[in-house]
Amino acid sequence: MRKFKVGIIGCGAIGTALARVLIRDRKLSFRAVLSAVSDKDPKQAEKLLARIGKKLPVVSIPAIVKHCDFIIEAAHPGISSSVASLALKNNKYVLIMSVGGLLKFPFNRLKALIAKTSGRLYCPSGAIAGVDALLATQTTKGLRRVRLKTTKPLRALKGAPYFEKHPFPVFKSGEEKKLIFRGNALQASRAFPQNINVAAILSLAGLGPQKTEVEIWAAQIAGTNRHEICIEGDFGTIRTTTDNFPAPDNPKTSYLAILSAEATLRKAFTTLRLGT
Ligand SMILES: NC(=O)c1ccc[n+]([C@@H]2O[C@H](COP(=O)([O-])OP(=O)(O)OC[C@H]3O[C@@H](n4cnc5c(N)ncnc54)[C@H](O)[C@@H]3O)[C@@H](O)[C@H]2O)c1
Repeated sequence: MRKFKVGIIGCGAIGTALARVLIRDRKLSFRAVLSAVSDKDPKQAEKLLARIGKKLPVVSIPAIVKHCDFIIEAAHPGISSSVASLALKNNKYVLIMSVGGLLKFPFNRLKALIAKTSGRLYCPSGAIAGVDALLATQTTKGLRRVRLKTTKPLRALKGAPYFEKHPFPVFKSGEEKKLIFRGNALQASRAFPQNINVAAILSLAGLGPQKTEVEIWAAQIAGTNRHEICIEGDFGTIRTTTDNFPAPDNPKTSYLAILSAEATLRKAFTTLRLGT
């Protein structure tokens, strides 16, 4: 059986975790082989290769897309739409982690690109629960409302473009919570590009970026990010809550997002595919 050549763009917490899975998971390594990596910081690429104990080519993004069959983007929302576009135009399989960056595409252009390619676009659920049920509702016209309420510690929101025009919240006591943003998923992904990949995956799976409602709350909570989702339609109401611990290698990334990416990668290469 021919093995899929896999290339990883972005050699940080998620890229390294996925590289490890590709090497260690026996079933996966039977079907896929890590063949090259890419990072804007060559030291990060070398660090990943040292951690997995492999000598592999460190190449540019176009070279990864050209030489690999399955491309993983785990780098930055600023490049995810161009990586997805290049991969799909070349009929490759591509797994995008910086899903928020995909909303840069007008929604219809993304759909048109997907319709034309024989490649595949994978977007993991990330740090939320409920995407499987949301996808199931696509078979009806009865999906009415999709809402996301995200609560993050103040420090996780630092550096977001939103605070170039709005004051950064200051809390007097440890108990305080503050609503800092209310809008749709498109606005949320522009204002908080590094924080709100979950809004993007909900949009793509549900009503689209303009109709997916997002609230972002800041709190003095230590450690966890909370995502509460409410989906309403003819089928009833779906409510989910995840309280996410940070990933050991990157406190800005939820550990569940890494587990979700690993599960998506395994599912791409397995025969038994559970869930919607
Ligand atoms: N879908 C989700 O639920 C979800 C959850 C967490 C993180 N993410 C996204 O996944 C991405 C990776 O997360 P992480 O925790 O591994 O981050 P990280 O900071 O640990 O690693 C990112 C790596 O990408 C590299 N990089 C950054 N910009 C690049 C560019 N333009 N070209 C090539 N390499 C570049 C960095 O040098 C770094 O090595 C981020 O964009 C993050 O927003 C998605």
